[in-house]
Amino acid sequence: MNYPFEKLFLVCIGDRCNNDSHGKDRGEVIAAELKDLNKQMGRKGVARICRVSCLDLCDHGPNIVVEPGNTVYSHLDRSDAEKVYRGEMGDAPKRTDLELEEGELRAGTSAAARKR
Ligand code: FES
Repeated sequence: MNYPFEKLFLVCIGDRCNNDSHGKDRGEVIAAELKDLNKQMGRKGVARICRVSCLDLCDHGPNIVVEPGNTVYSHLDRSDAEKVYRGEMGDAPKRTDLELEEGELRAGTSAAARKR
């Protein structure tokens, strides 16, 4: 069967994305605010805001991966995360400027970089 949701926002709440150094822009807060926004927009049946433990992109967080599309958004704060959501859901232009750049990924230390 096909999964019955159109979009998955995988919001990292791992140790580094959710580190206190990010203050109110840490992963848990981003996830909670996107979940509220998704509900306010009446999209609980369309999109899921999923907390994930680590995306192996820790050098670049806070991170969100959006499926379908495998799109990686990095260095997010709460405001940028909302822009990502609105862009992915078609409320506003897609924010390609907030995507992780290939060169930065390759320069990082993650296993995800070594898979390239
Ligand atoms: S802690 Fe977020 S990508 Fe690893």
